[in-house]
Amino acid sequence: MKDADRELFARAEAAASRAYAPYSRFYVGAAVRARDGRVLEGVNVENAAYPLGICAERSALGRAVGEGLGPGDVEAIAITASPCGGCRQWLVEFRLERVVYRRPDGDLAVATPAELLPDTFKL
Ligand code: THU
Repeated sequence: MKDADRELFARAEAAASRAYAPYSRFYVGAAVRARDGRVLEGVNVENAAYPLGICAERSALGRAVGEGLGPGDVEAIAITASPCGGCRQWLVEFRLERVVYRRPDGDLAVATPAELLPDTFKL
């Protein structure tokens, strides 16, 4: 794994402590690195109406979009958990090159969005 990927993962880990997860107490952090070098972080944000919560990776990508970035502008994302199925669809949409994430067994892994979600739905 590249040093840059480890550094991005460290940013995601630091962000996780700022998650708003009072219901699950499962704190997730994510950090995206844009091609221009900017790093933007996100955390999971839960709600008393449970389905309304948002995952850390979608929160980080939403932040990137708010900063003017779009599909193809984000090189890599690091996530302190294994991305859920819905978030995998987002990772494909934003055409990331690399996804660094923590496997359920605790190991760090690097994959492409296509590896994480083969035969992806496309409109
Ligand atoms: N969660 C994420 O933030 N990312 C994922 O890919 C998996 C799940 C969050 C959602 C919820 O706040 C908590 O983890 C427990 O499911």
